[in-house]
Amino acid sequence: MTERVAIFDTTLRDGEQSPGNTMNAQEKLRVAKQLESLGVDIIEAGFPIASVGDFESVKQIAETLKNCEVAGLARANFDDIDRAWEAVKHAAHPRIHTFISTSDIHLKFQMRKSRDEVLKMTEESVKRAAKYPANVEFSAMDATRSDWDYLCRVLGVAIEAGATTINVPDTVGYTVPDEFAALIRYIMEHVPNISQAVISVHCHNDLGLAVANSIAAVKAGARQVECTINGIGERSGNTALEEVVMILRTRKDLFAFDTRVVSEKIYPTSRLITSVTGAPVQPNKAIVGTNAFAHESGIHQDGLLKARLTYEIMTPESVGIPKSSLILGKHSGRHAFRERLENLGYPLEDKELNLVFKRFKALADMKKDVYDEDIEMIIMDEVVRVPEKYRMVYLSVVCGNMAIPTATVRIEVDGQVHQEAGFGDGPVDATLKAIQKIIKTNSKLLQFAVNAITGGTDAQGEVFVKLQEKGSTVIGKGADTDVIVASGKAYINALNKLEFVKKRKDTDKSPVKSEKSP
Ligand code: KIV
Ligand code: ZN
Repeated sequence: MTERVAIFDTTLRDGEQSPGNTMNAQEKLRVAKQLESLGVDIIEAGFPIASVGDFESVKQIAETLKNCEVAGLARANFDDIDRAWEAVKHAAHPRIHTFISTSDIHLKFQMRKSRDEVLKMTEESVKRAAKYPANVEFSAMDATRSDWDYLCRVLGVAIEAGATTINVPDTVGYTVPDEFAALIRYIMEHVPNISQAVISVHCHNDLGLAVANSIAAVKAGARQVECTINGIGERSGNTALEEVVMILRTRKDLFAFDTRVVSEKIYPTSRLITSVTGAPVQPNKAIVGTNAFAHESGIHQDGLLKARLTYEIMTPESVGIPKSSLILGKHSGRHAFRERLENLGYPLEDKELNLVFKRFKALADMKKDVYDEDIEMIIMDEVVRVPEKYRMVYLSVVCGNMAIPTATVRIEVDGQVHQEAGFGDGPVDATLKAIQKIIKTNSKLLQFAVNAITGGTDAQGEVFVKLQEKGSTVIGKGADTDVIVASGKAYINALNKLEFVKKRKDTDKSPVKSEKSP
């Protein structure tokens, strides 16, 4: 008999919290819908008390999703818990996730509370959460550096007060598989009411052991794993969802557990996170890296041609990497196009489909082969984007080894067209300088990266631009068969995002925003 392990996805909370991974509400909703169709059991949508923006975004996700639980994070106090409930109360399946530290290091240096005080706070806050009709999860932060007997007392009190899931976080990524498994077994043996709750684990990857620790914990008795897509998250990240799911599925001989995840949607979800955050996946990353299924050595290729089993423990198709990602040509119709998008994990509404289809046709006119990755980039451009104060209408560049790089741009600012020209040290520099003449900005360029989305000299270029202004960091993206145009688009997209963040900050008056990181 295969037992179910629940997947609790915290890409939108712990993942989004790490530098450069910030998403806007529209992007978060798109990611949440994708996670729902991926088949995760619980989505931690955010930390509602952290800001008005976080609250609204959790609420919107809670109101939209029907097939998974939606959780809001709360510290162990009444204000946080009430705010989390307000955000998730319209969810089909709401969850309040409250946490407090249990290690002496945190109690002494950060919280300045005694063990008894923390026990009392645990009891009161879980009771507060349990008065709402929601599932209640309790996390003992820094559990792996806590005294085991004290940790067991806290967990017992939390269950007694109404927690239905108790989470054991390795907050600082300190533990190792044997030790973590022993801790889970200890909890099972020493918390008398443990059978009334699901044991969850939440691991960070500081020593590169987050996935190994999570799997060891499952073997020892945990039945919920908290993780993020691509393993994004604080510092070295969190447990990578795709790795946990594929370990359990590939090694059925060792594990009698499975998840509800539709593994074929893993790769499209990973791509979505990369596109939204601009955080690229390292090429050799397990499951979703571009090299994960690329066989370079002659001996391996020879073996694969004879039988895939020789060097492939799972197929690329099983994680949603299309066999041939070549998609449709310029004669393809809307129907086939829509179907392809659905297979890729993007069920678009009619209006969105029209926009994307128009761009696809234009691209197919310029480029012989259009790939899934090209289409995804168009979706990111047309569907998942912030409101546009600035829009590039025209860009012309003169460059070459005998020319002074010169760019002329025309940009619509709030509907009014402006034109300027600029010189630079290269065509990209000239383009950015011309744009800056129209859009006055004090932002600092932190990073500029160009990738070819697919192979071939006619490939679309995908450009990521990271800008910073007054403590806000945003990532702009642009794609085009012309990398200079893609650079201009990415820069303008980043400026639109900064504008959006500024506006949101003006309306966002929450007093606790600066305390956002649990
Ligand atoms: O790492 C951690 O301890 C957390 C908790 C809030 C669960 O993210
Ligand atoms: Zn965490």
